[in-house]
Amino acid sequence: MTNKGPKIITTEDGSHSVYLPDINESYHSSHGAYRESIHVFLLYGLEAWYARNRGKFPIRIFEVGFGTGLNAWLTLIWAEQNQVPVLYHTIEPFPLSADIYNELNFTQMDETLTHYNGYFKRLHQMDWDSGKPMTDYFNIKKDKISLQEVKLYPADIVYFDAFSPKKQPELWEHALLQKIHERMNPQGVFVTYCAAGHLKKNLVSLEMTLDEVPGPPGKKEMTRAWKKN
Ligand SMILES: C[S@@+](CC[C@H](N)C(=O)[O-])C[C@H]1O[C@@H](n2cnc3c(N)ncnc32)[C@H](O)[C@@H]1O
Repeated sequence: MTNKGPKIITTEDGSHSVYLPDINESYHSSHGAYRESIHVFLLYGLEAWYARNRGKFPIRIFEVGFGTGLNAWLTLIWAEQNQVPVLYHTIEPFPLSADIYNELNFTQMDETLTHYNGYFKRLHQMDWDSGKPMTDYFNIKKDKISLQEVKLYPADIVYFDAFSPKKQPELWEHALLQKIHERMNPQGVFVTYCAAGHLKKNLVSLEMTLDEVPGPPGKKEMTRAWKKN
């Protein structure tokens, strides 16, 4: 008998990711999960928005796909280190079990961050469909629900971290992107690792402004789109 459940894999930067044999898809780039998350979401999402909006607090972030919790944990660290309040709303219809998230090695990737290690598990362990201040600067609401069903809050930054359009085309269609766009604040930013032409076309049709952004290691491009006023 084969076990077709989620499996932990190691990516090129030494950090783990999760692989789903059923759909032959992993949660991150094989070129480095940790590097990808920092590049796409922290650097070209959060930092880029903040550079244009210093002093606008709290920062409201919406994440599609909590998954391993890596983006949430790195954002918590950013909020603490920068002392900038963040309200983080994340959704996940298929939460990982403790035997998977307890084995993930993200907290071993950077020894300067050991102070924050305990928060990684706390992010996973907090109840679904609840919200709370996790630290002085990081307030999280975690909902066990799909993008199709969720009721959205206003967001300054969208971390769109769904499975690829090849595996989950419905999540990248115009209607769901429009649902997100409608709840984004003016000058909000939408970032994703995906650089597919049809995604960009959909975002342009929503009158978003795309800029050229280099992809994380192993990828030429990613997508970043700004909402107009
Ligand atoms: C590419 S993974 C990334 C997850 C996470 N951001 C991470 O860094 O681990 C995509 C995530 O989207 C979740 N997902 C699947 N279907 C979804 C849906 N309909 N709505 C929202 N999220 C979904 C998956 O379960 C998975 O956790």
